[in-house]
Order: sequence, then C-alpha cells, then structure tokens
Amino acid sequence: MCGIVGYVGRSMDDTALDVVMEGLARLEYRGYDSAGVALVTEDGVETAKRAGKLENLRSELSAHPLAVARTGIGHTRWATHGGPTDGNAHPHRGGEGGRLALIHNGIIENFHALKKELEAAGAEFESETDTEVAAQLVGREYDRLGDLTEAMRVVVGRLEGAFTLLAVHADSPGVVVGARRNSPLVVGLGDGENFLGSDVAAFIGHTRHAVELGQDQIVTITPDGHTVIGFDGSPAQGKGYEVTWDASAAEKGGYDTFMEKEIHEQPHAVGDTLLGRTKDDGELVLDELRISEDRLRQVDRITVVACGTAAYAGMVAKYAIEHWTRIPVEVSLAHEFRYCDPIVDDRTLVVSISQSGETMDTLMAVKHATELGALTLSICNTHGSTIPRESDAVLYTHAGPEIAVASTKAFLAQITACYVLGLYLAQLRGETYADDAKAVMNELREMPDKVEDLLGRMGRVIEMAEFMADSRAVLFLGRHVGFPVAMEGALKLKELAYIHAEGFAAGELKHGPIALIEPGQPVFVVVPSPDTPHELHKKVVSNIQEIRARGARTIVIAHDGDDDVLPFASEVIRIPQCPPMLAPLLAVVPLQVFALHLATAKGLDVDQPRNLAKSVTVE
Ligand code: M6R
Repeated sequence: MCGIVGYVGRSMDDTALDVVMEGLARLEYRGYDSAGVALVTEDGVETAKRAGKLENLRSELSAHPLAVARTGIGHTRWATHGGPTDGNAHPHRGGEGGRLALIHNGIIENFHALKKELEAAGAEFESETDTEVAAQLVGREYDRLGDLTEAMRVVVGRLEGAFTLLAVHADSPGVVVGARRNSPLVVGLGDGENFLGSDVAAFIGHTRHAVELGQDQIVTITPDGHTVIGFDGSPAQGKGYEVTWDASAAEKGGYDTFMEKEIHEQPHAVGDTLLGRTKDDGELVLDELRISEDRLRQVDRITVVACGTAAYAGMVAKYAIEHWTRIPVEVSLAHEFRYCDPIVDDRTLVVSISQSGETMDTLMAVKHATELGALTLSICNTHGSTIPRESDAVLYTHAGPEIAVASTKAFLAQITACYVLGLYLAQLRGETYADDAKAVMNELREMPDKVEDLLGRMGRVIEMAEFMADSRAVLFLGRHVGFPVAMEGALKLKELAYIHAEGFAAGELKHGPIALIEPGQPVFVVVPSPDTPHELHKKVVSNIQEIRARGARTIVIAHDGDDDVLPFASEVIRIPQCPPMLAPLLAVVPLQVFALHLATAKGLDVDQPRNLAKSVTVE
C-alpha cells in the first residue's frame, strides 16, 4: 500500500522530478487513489499533489511546473485515514512556514492522541490523515534541532504502528531522510546520486545496487552516500545486494496490460522456481532454507499462513504436503491466525506465503508464530522484503516482479515452491512417498511447457469472456486441489470484473449452494484428472450433471481426452494431461484469462482494480 520514492543527485535540473515521477509510475500498482511530489528548490520546498491516478498529477505538473531541484520525494497513495482527495494526498507539510515535506506508508496508530497534543499546542491541520501528524511533529523537531535525521529519530520514538516515512526540508537541500518500522524501504546506490523506494522498482531504471534496511532503522541519503542508524541512535548498516532483474522486467513488453504479460510469463515463473533445486542425481537440495535438516525432521505439524491468492496456494500445499509427507497441514488466513489461539509449538513449521513479502497480516502472523516458538519459513517472491527477513528460513519463488494487482504468475510460482518444499520434506524424512520425489520433480519440470501449450489455446476462453461480459454472477466448483483453483477463479473475477463470484467445493453443492442454480447460471467446473484416486473424477461428473439438470450453463475445465464430461458440458475448456496433484498449475490459467478478458470487455482497468492495492501493508 502506498508507493514511496526519494532521490538526491548533484545537478540542479529536472532530474529529481523525472526520477521521482518515473519511480512513482513503477510503484503505482501499490496504491493509486492520489499522488504527490515535493522538491527542494532554491525557493524552498515546492509540492504538487492530486487525487486520482498519477496521470492527474502529471497534468497538474504540466499546468503548473515546479522549479528545478536536485532533491525530491514522491508518493502514490492507498487511502487509510481520510478519503482520496487532493487535500489528503501526500506530501504533508510541517514546521515553521511549512518548510518540511513528509510522505508516509502505513498507519500511525496513536495519531489521535498526538494530534490532540499538537492542537493543544496551537497546531492547525489541513487534512484528515495520520500522516500530517508525523509531518508536523518532524517539522517542529527540525525547528528545534536543525537536523533532519535527528528530528526524524526523536519523532519515530513517539509513533506507534507501522510506517515508512520520508522527509525533506527546505534548509537541508541534498538530503532525504527515511525511517521504517514494519513497512518496506530500500536504498538504491547510484554514482553521485542515491535513491529510496518502497521497493527496488522505484529506482531499477537507474541502479541495481540496493541496500536492505533492518527493522526500526533510519537512513539518510545525500548525493555522496547513505548512513543508517537505529531508532535508538546507534550506528547500523543495511545489507547490500544486487537486483537480478532489470527495468524491462517491470515494463509491459508489448502487452496491453501487466496482467496479460504476467499471465504469459507463467511458464518461466514455474520453470525458474524449479531451477537449481536438485543435484545431478536428482536429490533435492534447498540450500537457501537456512534450517538444519535435524530441525526439519522434528516437525510434526505445518501451518500455512497467507492471504488472498497466496492462501489458495497454501490450500494446494495442504493436499500435496500431507500426501507426500503425512505431516498434518493446516491453512490459516494470516489475519485470523493470531486471534484463533493457534496450536503451535517448537515442532510446528509455520510456512508463510507472500508475493510481496510485505503483507502486514502475514507479517504479523509470522511474528506471532515466532513468539509461540514455532519454526518459520517464508515462501516469497521479493528479495529483501520484510517477511523473509523476519522468518527463520526462506524459499524464494522466481516469478520476477509482479506489477498487476491481480496475482497470476506469483500464484503458479507459489504452488511450485510448495510442491518443492513438500517433496524435500518427504525426501528428508524418508516418508512413504520419498522415493517418488524424483519422479514428481521430473513431472514438474514438464509443467512449464504444458502451461505454454495451454496459453496458446485460449481463443475460445477469450470469446466466452467477451460474450459473458454482462454476467451478474458466476459460480466456480472444484474438488481436491481443484477446490482452491475454483476459489482463485472466483477471486480473480471479483477483483477484476466486480462480478459476484463464488468458489465452492463441488461436494458441498448439495448442502446448500445448489439453491443458487437457476436456468442460465454460468458455473465453471474444475474437473480432476480421470487418474485421481477414489473415483473423484466420476463424482465431479455427477456434480456437473446435477447442476446441468437444474439449467446451469456448465463451463467445464477438463483434461485432454476426458470425454466423460461431454454430455453435460455447455462448453469444454481443455487443459493438457498431467498428474492430478499438479493440475492447479494448469486449471487456473483459463480462469485468469477469462477474468482478464471479461474485465477488459467491460472497459475496466485490470492492472489497477478499484479499491485495491498490490501490497497490503496495513492490517
Ligand atoms: O503479496 P501477498 O502475496 O502477500 O498478497 C496477498 C494477497 O493480498 C494477494 O494475493 C491478493 O489476494 C491479490 N490481489 C489477488 O489477486
């Protein structure tokens, strides 16, 4: 939520504004209900801000250009306190004559008390935001101390909640100060210029040298370098790393939308996540895990914590990991985990799944698990993000940057990583299915080509999406690993097309939801492979019959060669044959494509759906 950029360079020209605007464009996926910039010019701090997407800010800057500057900060907002208006947009001003400008990501939980205190001291507020409280506090401390870093340090000690703050002051040209607690901030190191960003996308067009900051740290950047201190004032150091992708990975590359591009990157997301996981003899090696094999052997329970799409990846993980390892796996929505008095001890492995690595609900669940003594492992797509840092171990997915708000390639990569983890645990523990690990890995390696093949067959799905653009409700059914796929298909349609959509376990239908079926009701059914044990395939075919008999329009996702579905399907979408457990990597693809094209047919912005943001960094 909220994208943050900071820049200092040597030249007094338009570079600062250009860099900040470019960074904001790359971070707009994080929040897009208003945007603003502040530049330190020769006349002081100049700001421009506008409600709505970044385009509105661009128009404002063309109509009323700011003076040249070598220092700037910029912000794209996802509103928490105060609606998305010009007045609530960041930056906010503070200090004598409003000479300080500050931007913020997160929530300052004690802002009411601080605001009252400031009002009692005569302060007046121009916005409804919690951010303005921080701006006024840092401004006042600057007026008292004359040092931006120290002013920030004094103030962060008084703030509760989660925040990244960036500030500039008219009297400190060439300096940007940032602070972070439970909210992301990375440093980009250039040559005679330095950067700050919510993530590396903010400056990837300029440098790949990045520094990860720790919790409760303050960073000061100048054109010549950066210094880091803790909130207690002690000297600290960030952790340097090289970003392995370049700016082109964060651009649309000829596709109309990021989402479409990312759907087409899925074969690579799966393939790259499998890379380097096995030795020549096929034995799985997860060197990056950082947990001893002995410790992992002691695990007797796994709890997956995640939100949204990542939680559906966790549901797939449950089927796979329980089957391969016989370790009980529970999936808990991260925001519920803390409040359900979870049964967790030092033999529990808590696996968090997160694309961004910054989802606050998931982060808090991981912290709670740590407090309870659990071993924590993060499956994450973003290097240097907070959740892996707070975890005992990490297994990175290699999907590359995911920009579209609707998660697609990260989902496939997360499922792939869960399979790898399950197979690794099976191998390590010598459980019943350990011998199958190599065979399953070989089958997994065939999946990228199958996803590619499937992406080439989406013509009919796109046609259907276009003629179904007026649908008022769509249902999704699945069983076993098809159940989370059905849930994910419904989520994609809700978030992109604003259509009421529900995913159900197909077996649950006759316990209530079948009452929703009326003539013409579209129902997607994810059919398991005919090879699925326990005659599950037959049972799902019966479920299709039941709804078809009540007039549903059945859109059936079935494996190549599965003709049993034909008599009961209004439409059949074919997916390549694959082992039953791996089918989610294929079955979800037509559902993603359907949601993308239906939303496009409705004229909606698929990359930035209403009310949403890519990284949900508030609870
Ligand atoms: O970054 P994370 O994977 O932790 O995000 C979790 C969810 O917020 C995310 O998957 C969300 O549900 C997506 N918008 C779904 O497309």
